[in-house]
Amino acid sequence: MKIYATYNIKGGVGKTSAAVNLAHLASASGYRALLWDLDPQGAATYLFRVKPKVKGGSRALVCGTRPLDDAIKATDFDRLDLLPADFSYRNLDLQLDDMKRPTRRIRQLLRPLDGEYDVVFLDCPPSISLLSENVLHAVDTLLVPMIPATLSVRTLDQLVSFVGDLDGRQPQVCSFFSMVDRRKRLHCDLVDHLGAERPGILSTVIPSLSIVEQMAVHRAPVTVFAPHSHAAECYEALWGELNETETD
Ligand SMILES: Nc1ncnc2c1ncn2[C@@H]1O[C@H](COP(=O)(O)OP(=O)(O)OP(=O)(O)O)[C@@H](O)[C@H]1O
Ligand SMILES: [Mg+2]
Repeated sequence: MKIYATYNIKGGVGKTSAAVNLAHLASASGYRALLWDLDPQGAATYLFRVKPKVKGGSRALVCGTRPLDDAIKATDFDRLDLLPADFSYRNLDLQLDDMKRPTRRIRQLLRPLDGEYDVVFLDCPPSISLLSENVLHAVDTLLVPMIPATLSVRTLDQLVSFVGDLDGRQPQVCSFFSMVDRRKRLHCDLVDHLGAERPGILSTVIPSLSIVEQMAVHRAPVTVFAPHSHAAECYEALWGELNETETD
């Protein structure tokens, strides 16, 4: 079971859009896929038309009184399941902090799902918190969407250094440029130069395309309602590149 997280300290950078499309592409290519919505905003839950209601709230899942398996919902797509978020997820940090090994809890909770799924995507809220630390310990690959801007690169550097300081196994950090607008000089400069110079930045770029925003209207991945669109092609390329950059 390979575990990815779409993560960035910054908000509104394309984490959920990537998680939803990649999870769909993974399932369409034959993998048994699970998307765990870890964000109290519940955007991924909404996009997959699942009710944002978690019986017992996130506390029951974190404490283990309710196994994850029990809270998993089917989506409209074969081989693709969703672990929904509701507003109780706003307290996830406090709940994790009450556990014995507070930074390893998410990893421990996912362990029994090994064998049931080939690939898991964690859609993270924008923050750097105890939950983020849990995610870093749980995943094989951290997928970091980045809107081209000097400060975004600085944030990526902070994240890479934080990951480098982690005890034990460290996840691979794969960043990619998101919401790229080729009419902006700075976007072109950063994508063309930084992408080539820096290791850890994927060559696939997700452009700024209004069809991606329409996911919220269709409540479906763009790879489903517009499978031949340029946006869908870009997410396919991203999924292809991720599969090529496997380290293990
Ligand atoms: N490539 C894109 N082109 C245009 N709009 C996009 C693109 N990717 C995402 N968006 C839009 O930008 C907004 C934020 O995207 P998304 O929810 O994927 O980001 P996020 O990083 O998950 O946000 P949050 O930090 O709030 O969880 C949404 O309205 C989404 O439809
Ligand atoms: Mg999101």
